[in-house]
Amino acid sequence: MKTTISHIKADIGSLPGHTVVYQPVVDEVENYVKNNSEGLISDFHISHIGDDIQITMVHTRGADNPEIHKLAWDAFKAGTEVAKKIGLYGAGQDLLKDAFSGNIKGMGPGVAELEITPRKAEPFIVYMMDKTEPGAFNYPIYKMFGDPFNTPGLVIDPNMHMGFKFEVWDIYNGKKIYLSLPEDTYDLLAFIGSKSKYVIKRVYTKNTHTKLPDENVAVITTDKLSFIAGEYVGKDDPAGIVRIQSGLPASGEALEPFANSYLVSGWMRGSFNGPMMPVGMDNAQMTRFDGPPRVMALGFVMKEGKLAGPVDMFRDVAFDYARNEALNMANYMRRMGVFEPHRLPDEDMEYTALPKILEKRAQDFKKIEDKGANSEMKGGQ
Ligand code: F6R
Ligand code: MG
Repeated sequence: MKTTISHIKADIGSLPGHTVVYQPVVDEVENYVKNNSEGLISDFHISHIGDDIQITMVHTRGADNPEIHKLAWDAFKAGTEVAKKIGLYGAGQDLLKDAFSGNIKGMGPGVAELEITPRKAEPFIVYMMDKTEPGAFNYPIYKMFGDPFNTPGLVIDPNMHMGFKFEVWDIYNGKKIYLSLPEDTYDLLAFIGSKSKYVIKRVYTKNTHTKLPDENVAVITTDKLSFIAGEYVGKDDPAGIVRIQSGLPASGEALEPFANSYLVSGWMRGSFNGPMMPVGMDNAQMTRFDGPPRVMALGFVMKEGKLAGPVDMFRDVAFDYARNEALNMANYMRRMGVFEPHRLPDEDMEYTALPKILEKRAQDFKKIEDKGANSEMKGGQ
């Protein structure tokens, strides 16, 4: 029977400011799901990174199911009430609409759903990132499913040798394209290198896959808050689900892209490039310059709709090197202050408050008629 894993996340308030969620609010969301999900879902798990609460649910109602989406929306609403009572910063921040209208997409929370035919053992990893954007998944997902230097299974394992199909979204124009690897590798990279415009939405096996023909094996949230609210209301801190093993990337191949830090957009005020730092649950809070951007990975197995786990995958000395590298990169980048390429390029600042500042001085710009040094400055202007 088809089973759906729905992962829905939102920032509904944090402490003291965009740093970390507050446990009583997480508890309220958890209790709401526990007490209102009978007959709807077979299992769930609540987690968090930085200021975002994350709900992972298992059910048989398929993707985009209104009841499942409403359950998550109402749980976040209930959590928001507690956040407001305590006076948490940004209480209800990501709940951008007043009333639920059948689908949580476009309402603020991030959504990633996988409808699958479960294998005998169904291992998967849920990745959660804070202080960055959906395109931050482009690099690691490509490495997992497309790069044989990361995933030797693409060369060695006959069940993976045919490669994978990628669904890429142009999030500015609402269009998508399917690209088949390895043959379309260079085309894929030509798009997804522009990580704020093109994002990997899903990865599929091909119909030539010996174990899992045409299955969706990875999915990423691609919700852009600024497109919904019309202005910057926090970055779109993404999450993703990746199925692993047995003809798919091994657990270690799915973690390997994070063994070195890499640069992503987000960090302070969603306006800076900064290093991605893999962390365990005990370090899921945002401090230095509201970051650095972090990723957490929780490993599960699923059987007959029930979850076992999670394993806190990055809570391991094996990722200390990446953490140190991220900290060194953070030092290096921070010295640049508000200069590009630490600060994002103009196009990406469009949805921040910067245009308001620039507009105020726009009328002071004069046409350039250069007649030599200081000719226009006479009179001490
Ligand atoms: C970035 C983020 C924070 C805030 C920053 C300013 O995604 O959440 O870096 O942008 O703390 O927050 P406000 O504007 O709410 O004071
Ligand atoms: Mg966040």
